[in-house]
Amino acid sequence: MNNIDLLLNRRSNAALISPAPDRDALDNILIAGMRVPDHGNIKPWHFTVLQERGLNQLSDIFSRVGQLDGADEEKLLKLKKMPFRAPMIIIISTRYCHHPKVPKQEQLVAAGCCVHAMQMAAFGLGYGAMWRTGELSYHDLVKAEFNIGTEEDIVGFLYIGTESRQLPAKATTPYQDYVTFL
Ligand SMILES: Cc1cc2nc3c(=O)[nH]c(=O)nc-3n(C[C@H](O)[C@H](O)[C@H](O)COP(=O)(O)O)c2cc1C
Repeated sequence: MNNIDLLLNRRSNAALISPAPDRDALDNILIAGMRVPDHGNIKPWHFTVLQERGLNQLSDIFSRVGQLDGADEEKLLKLKKMPFRAPMIIIISTRYCHHPKVPKQEQLVAAGCCVHAMQMAAFGLGYGAMWRTGELSYHDLVKAEFNIGTEEDIVGFLYIGTESRQLPAKATTPYQDYVTFL
């Protein structure tokens, strides 16, 4: 698939199984994340790669947070299973810097670009991926577990793996209502 086909036809896929990207593929995915537009070249992000042990750690923290929030058994089980929807998750979080010319929102956008670039790299390498957040990405205990400061944002949990089923092509919303030509 060439570059423009990749951009025009990309599809997130939630049906992800092993194998996860191998060492070389992961290397390229992480490099793609480092290569995004970045005002001031400050790299205001951090990536935490979870596999096996890390996914179990995420599962434990999700269920602990659920218990603290009074979730019932059914919800707790759901929370516990969530991280195993793919063999690899990359947590993309911010590392905001004080910069005279780069406000916080630009740094957040740059970290968001990392998620997109890494997802596109995963697609380009033949893997499937899904960008997720949800209420747990805003929870201080989840952040603390992965050494992410409370003042930082988790921009995404990027689930990556091998697609267990291919999805049909998806129609693109026409751009006409979203564009002004002057
Ligand atoms: C910041 C962000 C957070 C998202 N969080 C979730 C999520 O928690 N759960 C979910 O099902 N989709 C989430 N999505 C949407 C999916 O990643 C995906 O874009 C959507 O299912 C549409 O599929 P597509 O990417 O193939 O168009 C999120 C997207 C973004 C940009």
